[in-house]
Amino acid sequence: MCGIVGYTGYRDVIDVLFKGLTNLEYRGYDSAGIAIRDDNKIKIYKSLGKLINLKNEVKEKQTEIVKPTSGIGHIRWATHGSPSLVNAHPHTCTCGNLVVVHNGIIENYKELREQLIKLGCEFRSQTDTETIAHLVAHEYSKVNDLEIAVRNSVKQLQGAYAVCVMHKEVPDVIVGARKHAPMLVGVGEGENFIASDTPAIIEYTKKTIYLDDNEIAVVTKDNVKITDVNGVIVNKKVEILPWEPVALSKLGYKHFMLKEIHEQPDVIRNVLNGKLYDIDAPISLNEVKISADILKKLNKIEIIACGTSLHASLVGKYLIEDFAGISVEVEPSSEYIYRKTTTDSSTLVIGVSQSGETADTITAIKQAKEKNAHVLIITNRPDSNMARLADSLIPVNAGIEVSVAATKSYTAQLISFYLLAIYLAEIKNSLDKSYVKNLKHELIQLPTKIEEILSNTSNIQECARKFSSFKNFIYIARGINLATAYEGALKLKEISYINATGYPAGELKHGPIAMLDETMPVLSILMPGGVCYEKVLSNSEEAKARNAKLIALTSSDDDNIKSLFDVVLKVPQVNEILSPAIACVPLQLLAYYIAEFLGKDVDQPRNLAKSVTVE
Ligand code: F6R
Repeated sequence: MCGIVGYTGYRDVIDVLFKGLTNLEYRGYDSAGIAIRDDNKIKIYKSLGKLINLKNEVKEKQTEIVKPTSGIGHIRWATHGSPSLVNAHPHTCTCGNLVVVHNGIIENYKELREQLIKLGCEFRSQTDTETIAHLVAHEYSKVNDLEIAVRNSVKQLQGAYAVCVMHKEVPDVIVGARKHAPMLVGVGEGENFIASDTPAIIEYTKKTIYLDDNEIAVVTKDNVKITDVNGVIVNKKVEILPWEPVALSKLGYKHFMLKEIHEQPDVIRNVLNGKLYDIDAPISLNEVKISADILKKLNKIEIIACGTSLHASLVGKYLIEDFAGISVEVEPSSEYIYRKTTTDSSTLVIGVSQSGETADTITAIKQAKEKNAHVLIITNRPDSNMARLADSLIPVNAGIEVSVAATKSYTAQLISFYLLAIYLAEIKNSLDKSYVKNLKHELIQLPTKIEEILSNTSNIQECARKFSSFKNFIYIARGINLATAYEGALKLKEISYINATGYPAGELKHGPIAMLDETMPVLSILMPGGVCYEKVLSNSEEAKARNAKLIALTSSDDDNIKSLFDVVLKVPQVNEILSPAIACVPLQLLAYYIAEFLGKDVDQPRNLAKSVTVE
């Protein structure tokens, strides 16, 4: 979603803004802009589409730029008003002296806009953001102090904002404020940064101050001052970022998605590290801050998440119910927040999120906390808002995920759920000890099995080539791999724009089978070990009888499979209960190669954002 970077200091300001925005690009955007303080003037450059267009725009105007000393930049993902030059940020007040960039949504912008128009403000865009520019300029005209003007303005805003403001009359001062949208200050020497997310500043500093809701930062090159909305100084902790700049490099891979798929074996090793080190020792989850006594009596867990994280949660439900016998509900955050739930102080609520910034999940977590539930967050971003709300936190340690399509974070979430489910089972003594030992042994083997898949992808590439012209797909599975079918279909849909749907295989004949013919391939996930295998096999026969082309994803060498299916994608043998952690890999690769063959923008698919910070 939108991204913000601000800088004041001794470096090349334009270069810092562009690098910062480039490192936020993965979040998804449709236009970009920067405002710089140069030669005692505020100069604004905007463009539609990718950052390269903005770079070209600035290059063309190079002769008018002297030596900028500070600036703010923005990439916009349209919410209010279409993606257009006039709606791109930065926005200004009527006279152009004050500039604003903003992430989030101002809910009362229409009322404010009407009031400001009556005061003589001239609006040019359809955005909610422009209202902030006029409002702060109006407040500034009353007090002649930018910090106070921002403070007085944000008190009037309803909704979500991370906002950065500069004023021509206040040289090299950037004022930032936030509510329900992430914002941080990067602390340097003789320079300071402000940004909506850490990748924007990681090349320059690891020292970070995270703003909390209703806080205001006044940033100059030599000073950072944080106050609350009433102007009271807040003493904030300077935290050290856990990332290295190399996390933002493709390291020779054509796309971040391919790199991230290939990182999965190491990601699994990272997740297991320190938690599962000896198959004879119990899983160690020091992060779970609930006593064993309470966990033993726990009879309800609710998991809330969105998208890919929701699919990982479905596997989590299966595992916790199977291993620990605790009833688990899984719900999309966007549904949970608009109904009367039964969450109470005896419920364990688990929020799952790669980014830790998904607006719906944050709202859901806050609602659960208001009901006094213990909130456990599983996230890849221990530096996120969601992590800050957690009573217990399981960091999934997948490293920064740049490609919009989640891959390694999904696998890391799955492994976290395996650990959590076994941990609960060990506390409740609900599983046979030798079964647990075997599971742990197999968990440790998973990275090597995934390496086996990644070492030869020619079959998957061949399958992608063969099927890339189809417009519709159905993915079927049962049991623990139903989530794999949902996730595989989502991957294909989001990066290739092919219509793919995951279905419980047994549901096929209750409706979807009507769509089957030679134009609708069916991908069946058949992992031997339980009753599901034979059942999915016979559901696949039913599809074949309707002339559907069939793809099998399996670890089986069964001759029936070879004769029934048009293409067989093989994965190494694995315990069925662990199979989602390896079955997802060929499906990620299949989606990747299909999108590649179709020439799609794999890392930044249209209309999507990496971090969905609006509800
Ligand atoms: C799909 C994808 C999205 C996210 C969803 C939730 O590849 O990435 O479906 O999973 O937007 O995001 P997080 O996990 O950051 O809360």
